[in-house]
Amino acid sequence: MEKALLHLGDTTYELDIITGSEGEKALDISKLRDKTGYITLDIGYKNTGSTVSRITFIDGEQGILRYRGYPIEQLAEFSTYLEVAYLLIYGELPTRSQLENFEGRIKERTLIHEDIKKFFDGFPSSAHPMGILASVLCSLSSFYPESLDPYAPDEVIDRNIIRLLAKVPTLIAWIYKKRNGHPYMYPRNERSYVENFLHMMFGMPTYDYEPDPHVVDALNKLLILHADHEQNCSTSTVRTVGSSLANIYASVAAGVCALWGPLHGGANQEVIEMLEMIRADGGNIQKWIDKAKDKNDPFRLMGFGHRVYKNFDPRAKIIKQAADQVLNALGIHDPVLDIAKKLEEVALSDPYFIERRLYPNVDFYSGIIYRAIGIPVDMFTVMFAFGRLAGWLAQWLEMRKAGEPIVRPRQVYVGPTLREYVPIAKRG
Ligand code: ACO
Repeated sequence: MEKALLHLGDTTYELDIITGSEGEKALDISKLRDKTGYITLDIGYKNTGSTVSRITFIDGEQGILRYRGYPIEQLAEFSTYLEVAYLLIYGELPTRSQLENFEGRIKERTLIHEDIKKFFDGFPSSAHPMGILASVLCSLSSFYPESLDPYAPDEVIDRNIIRLLAKVPTLIAWIYKKRNGHPYMYPRNERSYVENFLHMMFGMPTYDYEPDPHVVDALNKLLILHADHEQNCSTSTVRTVGSSLANIYASVAAGVCALWGPLHGGANQEVIEMLEMIRADGGNIQKWIDKAKDKNDPFRLMGFGHRVYKNFDPRAKIIKQAADQVLNALGIHDPVLDIAKKLEEVALSDPYFIERRLYPNVDFYSGIIYRAIGIPVDMFTVMFAFGRLAGWLAQWLEMRKAGEPIVRPRQVYVGPTLREYVPIAKRG
């Protein structure tokens, strides 16, 4: 095995070098503290590998994203979200009969316990959809106590994975219905996964809702593109929470909370709000580019930049094309799409963005599609969570199967050293 040498004072230590299947190199420091008394410091984990994984490969320099070895471009073009979910969770593309069985098991569980409806009643109609989703997901664990057993057999874990895939679309659609004060629509299991979701979202008891095939196709694509992205903030959260042997519902709910932030999944909502703001302000692109570059101005170009992708985000490329296709097919002209394209063009020729290698990320164009489909802006991040669910489940399962230890980083303490307690009477 390849070794790296670490010199600390007069002593030299050998560190194993781990090489991934795509040639990525890592220094194995898992015994560093025991051997040397030192820890490593990497705030924000910019250089820290938290696990070895077989699920998703990203090459940020080349703009490559693959699930279980399959290029995202091929999956987005040819597969369905459930096929991709199967691939992520079980490791291989399903055969036709495996997929039918998987879809059948999901269809059996699309209903949610009637008592859950009462939870929805308790939220104000102005509640943010991410807050409702996280709360209700965590609450689901109380309806499935078998999920609380940290040593549950594989079939119990699998059943709860299927439950989550089945129930999340129903929950999201019901969040929308609650928001609008409309009657909740029950699943129609003769429909495909995405069609059923659209039926529960936009259908009404008073008429049959037939989704436009372009919308079904665009939504499938978006869900696939969001399905996994290795050890990002929310996925790491899911694995971290799961590493304490917390149940799968609590772990996924924690992932929803992590995704909510505007620097992560919350960016898709922020992008549309930013584009609308620029439009309302007269569409002066250069003014907003200048604000984004100004270090004294907190404004950032939302949907730009990525911790990993430094040349382009392959998902953004596919989504930009899909946005054009779906808007054309639906005959929608969204002026915000024109602003987005202009903003991208100006930013990509500006030295500030070129030097920092800032490109549109997955969130830059996704909101334009969501909006064309009829999804309200404050539900964009919930749609991201919908897609990311498959990845969270796959990553949680991988972590559990590998028997990974509880996540417990160290720190460098820089607070006060020992001092004597002063009773309050003497503190003045
Ligand atoms: N607009 C203007 N400047 C930016 C932007 C931006 N969107 N993103 C990064 N920069 C600048 C930073 O100010 C910094 O400049 P400096 O070197 O002069 O100080 C430099 O580029 C590096 O940025 P960091 O914040 O250090 O990069 P990091 O990897 O920590 O952050 C992040 C990545 C959070 C995505 C960042 O680019 C950002 O805030 N983007 C906007 C929010 C966004 O779109 N988030 C979604 C990400 S994708 C996802 O989670 C699904």
